[in-house]
Amino acid sequence: ISVLVLNGPNLNLLGTRQPEVYGSVTLADVEDLCRNHGATVGLDVTCLQSNHEGVLIDAIHEAKGVHGGIVMNAGAFTHTSVAIMDAIASVELPVVEVHLSNIHAREEFRHKSFVAPVALGQIAGFGATSYVLALDALAKHLGSEA
Ligand code: DQA
Repeated sequence: ISVLVLNGPNLNLLGTRQPEVYGSVTLADVEDLCRNHGATVGLDVTCLQSNHEGVLIDAIHEAKGVHGGIVMNAGAFTHTSVAIMDAIASVELPVVEVHLSNIHAREEFRHKSFVAPVALGQIAGFGATSYVLALDALAKHLGSEA
């Protein structure tokens, strides 16, 4: 089963961006981890990152019929984007929301997620392992495991 791992704004800077919050792993490390872990649970992982809301929305639309589900870290758009929420609701694909940091333990404005109401579930606070847990959850949901 093919799945999309979609990363939003500023996640291209992982590794050098606020390492005290996000750790030292790079986006390339996260994407390698996703492809490798995905393969062990029967998921064929495609990765995409964009800093642009419209590109992320297009990617969600285009995932329909191509991918069985999406693991999404919408970055700061998590807390602002009704448009991303509507895109997810429109395609009716299972989406697992992920965050490296525990958004609920941070500033108040990060507690609100527009992705959460249209997501299968949310995993936050485990660094790159959040993605591994999200892929496991999606694999279980899609029944990709032997
Ligand atoms: C983030 C949390 C968001 O609040 C922040 O804007 C990010 C990264 C995370 O992965 O912890 O860009 O989504």
